Amino acid sequence: MSGRLDGRLIGLGVCGSIAAYKAVELLRLLRAEGADVVVMLTPSAATFVGPLTFAALSRHPVETDVLGLLPDERIGHIVVADTADAIVVAPATARWLGAMANGISSDAVTAACLATSAPVVVAPAMDGDMWTHPATRDNVGRLRDDFGYAIVEPASGELASGQSGVGRLAELPEIVDAVVAAIGDRPVRAPDPAARPPVVAAPRGPDLERRHVVVSAGGTAEAIDPVRFIGNRSTGKMGVAIAEAALARGARVTLVVGRVEVPLPGAAAVVHAESTAQMRDAIEDAVIGQHADALVMAAAVADFRPATAAATKLTRGEGLRLELEPTEDILAEVGARARDLDPRPVIVGFAAETGSLDRAPDKLRRKGADLLVANDVGEEGSGFGTDTNRVVILGADGSRDDLPLLAKREVADRLLDRVAALLDRREAREHTG
Ligand code: CTP
Repeated sequence: MSGRLDGRLIGLGVCGSIAAYKAVELLRLLRAEGADVVVMLTPSAATFVGPLTFAALSRHPVETDVLGLLPDERIGHIVVADTADAIVVAPATARWLGAMANGISSDAVTAACLATSAPVVVAPAMDGDMWTHPATRDNVGRLRDDFGYAIVEPASGELASGQSGVGRLAELPEIVDAVVAAIGDRPVRAPDPAARPPVVAAPRGPDLERRHVVVSAGGTAEAIDPVRFIGNRSTGKMGVAIAEAALARGARVTLVVGRVEVPLPGAAAVVHAESTAQMRDAIEDAVIGQHADALVMAAAVADFRPATAAATKLTRGEGLRLELEPTEDILAEVGARARDLDPRPVIVGFAAETGSLDRAPDKLRRKGADLLVANDVGEEGSGFGTDTNRVVILGADGSRDDLPLLAKREVADRLLDRVAALLDRREAREHTG
């Protein structure tokens, strides 16, 4: 489904008004339009709706303090100011309008607005007499005319005081429309999630407890002679992220690694396997020999190796002509043998493509996998060495899940959500069958 705010980051500033509860619904509407939302609260807003509510719904830490640092030590309101495509302040109180009009950055919302070059949308809500007071009129005029902020005027109706008048927060869809209009067709400011406020991972329970998950990571190397090899650009980041995520969810993890450039989790049973043949043996032992519950084949395996590896170092004067032979297809081989096991392990393959992913469904069938994670390694932010990945998860059941650009750890968890669901279904079938 595509929304009008797909790929956008919106900073939602909430002030201390009784209408603060409506900001929760505004957050939901912005997310329904495809936006990633990060919330900032003034100190009094936090007395109306707690930060935990906003953190759980936005999946980001909530900024409540102008002096607040993110878990990674970056200054929270500056990260929002620098990466948000728009900031929307709803509800904005009379006090906040005064603070903003005068540049008094004593709360995270004002500070982020002062520091940003993104468009700012302001939806005031207050008592009718406060709204018509000359001080408020002046402050609103300054925000609109001098700062260029879009003001979504409050509506008329019953107010918290029991009186009726102009001062009710505008209807939420009207505020969403104003945010969409304020952004217009500007480019996305921070497409890289690493630049944005960190994601608070949705808490996942220990849903892989008692499961043995085998993960391969990194690239294999095929010897040409004792010092040279044919290798590839894999760093192992994706596979290691999967191993870490599986450990966090309670699994026992065997991590079979080729050449990697990242630290390996100490809690995994690590098996080093440099060549494709060694990796095949290690995976066969873990998956078939130990009857694992799942194999996630994230390694970049060499497709060809020198037909013969020289026993001594080749010299330049000899020249070099390499005859290559295909390597064993580990996934296809182990996948085929796994079919004879009862219960059958869940098999996950990866498909690194450049350009179209058209070949991926055929690869899924050919390799006999339950799930295939396909990505375009030529795309910016995806593939080798990056901290992020945009993947499509294809299922043997014909399903197709197009994930947005995500941190590799989040890709890992989304994939493991699918693996855990397949394992649960397998177990349910055993009990009924
Ligand atoms: N794979 C494997 N053994 C190989 C080659 C690949 O187990 N000799 C696994 C990879 O780890 C990955 C999946 O198969 O999980 C797909 O790898 P990929 O390189 O995309 O596919 P290929 O088999 O090389 O097919 P093609 O050359 O047609 O792209």
